[in-house]
Amino acid sequence: MCSKKTVVVGVTGGIAVYKALDVISSLKKKDLDIHVIMTKNAMEFVTPLSFQSLSQNMVISDMFAEPKAFEIQHISLAKKADLMLIVPATANVIGKVANGIADDMLTTTIMATKAPVVFAPAMNTNMYNNVIVQENIKKLKSLDYKFIPPASGRLACGDIGTGKLADTNTIVETVLTMLYDKKDLVNKKVLVTAGPTISPIDPVRFITNRSTGKMGFAIAEEARDRGADVTLISGPTSLVPPVGVKYIKVETNEEMLRETLNHFEQQDIVVKSAAVADYKPKQYSTTKIKKSESELSIDFIKDTDILKTLGETKKNQILVGFAAESNDLIKNAEAKVRTKNLDYIVANDITSRDTGFASNDNKVTIITKEGKIIPMEKMTKREVARELFNLINT
Ligand SMILES: Cc1cc2nc3c(=O)[nH]c(=O)nc-3n(C[C@H](O)[C@H](O)[C@H](O)COP(=O)(O)O)c2cc1C
Repeated sequence: MCSKKTVVVGVTGGIAVYKALDVISSLKKKDLDIHVIMTKNAMEFVTPLSFQSLSQNMVISDMFAEPKAFEIQHISLAKKADLMLIVPATANVIGKVANGIADDMLTTTIMATKAPVVFAPAMNTNMYNNVIVQENIKKLKSLDYKFIPPASGRLACGDIGTGKLADTNTIVETVLTMLYDKKDLVNKKVLVTAGPTISPIDPVRFITNRSTGKMGFAIAEEARDRGADVTLISGPTSLVPPVGVKYIKVETNEEMLRETLNHFEQQDIVVKSAAVADYKPKQYSTTKIKKSESELSIDFIKDTDILKTLGETKKNQILVGFAAESNDLIKNAEAKVRTKNLDYIVANDITSRDTGFASNDNKVTIITKEGKIIPMEKMTKREVARELFNLINT
C-alpha cells in the first residue's frame, strides 16, 4: 500500500454528526493518520472521546486552550494535512468558509491549509436548497473546494428530500481517490467487461448468474480517473453507467464476444471481469415453452470462452482475467493464467459471505504470469481496482 497520509477531519454541529464516527473508523482502517477538529456546537451532539478513541489522536476544538506541545495547532494541522474532510458540513461552516470567516479552530485551519478541502454537507432540505447556501457552495466550488453531494431520502427531521449525508462508502472512496490521485493511464486505452450475461431459453426465460457488475464498474471508474480512455462493455445491471466512459450494453455471451473483439485490437489493457455464461441451452425455443404436467429438462452446450479467445489473439495488450472460485482458488486461478495466456488473474473466493457478488467489498488474490501470488486484505472493489492498476503500472 501507499505511505501513510494525514487526513484532518472537521466535525460540525449537525444531526448527522454520529455518522462521522463511522467515516473516521473506516478511514482509520485505510492506514491513514486521522486528526479530528470539532466545532463547539458539534460537541453538543457527541463528546470528543469517541472521536479520540477512533482516530487515536487528541481531538482539537478550543483555539485558545493551552497547547500540549509548543506548536501553533491550527497552523501545524493545516500544514500536516494531505486532505481536509468536513463531515458533516453544516450550512453554517459552508457559509463561514465561503465568506472568509475564521473564528474557531476548524475554520481557521481550513483557511490556513494548502491541502484540498472536501465538504460532505448534511442538513434539512429547505436549508440545503436555500439560495444563500447554494450560492456559498457555488462560490466554494469555483475556488476549487470539493463537495460530496448529499443524498435524497427521509431526513432526521422527518422531511423527505435532499440533505442526507452521503453514505460512508462514497465519502471514503472520494477521500481515497483524492489522496491517491494518479494520472498514470493518460493516453492508454482500457477495455473493461462487467456484469453477467444471459442465456435465453425462450422469449421470456433465461438463465444468468449473480454478478452485479460492481467490480467491473469500479475498474472502469478507476481507469477513467487515472486518465485512460475507457470502454466498458456490460451485461444487464442496475448500476448507472459511469460518466466519461464509453458504455456498451450487451446481454448474451455472443454479443459480449462480438463487442469485445470489435474493440480488442486498439486496447492497451483489457480487464475481463464479466461473469460470462459458460453454457447456453442447446435449443432456443422461439415460442414460450408451455407449462405442462411433465418435468422439463433442458440440454446445455458450451458457449464461447471469451477470455481464452482473447488470450489466443492478443498481441501487446495486457490481459487481465477474473476467476470466481468456490474451491481450490489458487490452483484453479494459476491454471487459468497459463491456459488462457493471461498477464494477471484476480481470483476471488465466492463462498465468503461479505465479499464477492453484490458486495461493495472484495477479498482477492492477484496472480501474475510470472507465478507471483499476491494475497490482498478485504477492501472495497474500488481499492481492488486501484491495487490492480498499481501492479500493472509497476
Ligand atoms: C438538533 C439540531 C440539529 C441540527 N442539525 C443540523 C444539520 O443537520 N445541518 C446543519 O447545517 N445545521 C444543523 N443544526 C444547526 C447547527 O447546529 C447550527 O447552525 C450551528 O451554528 C452549527 O455550528 P457549527 O457549524 O460551528 O458546528 C442543528 C441544530 C440542532 C439544535
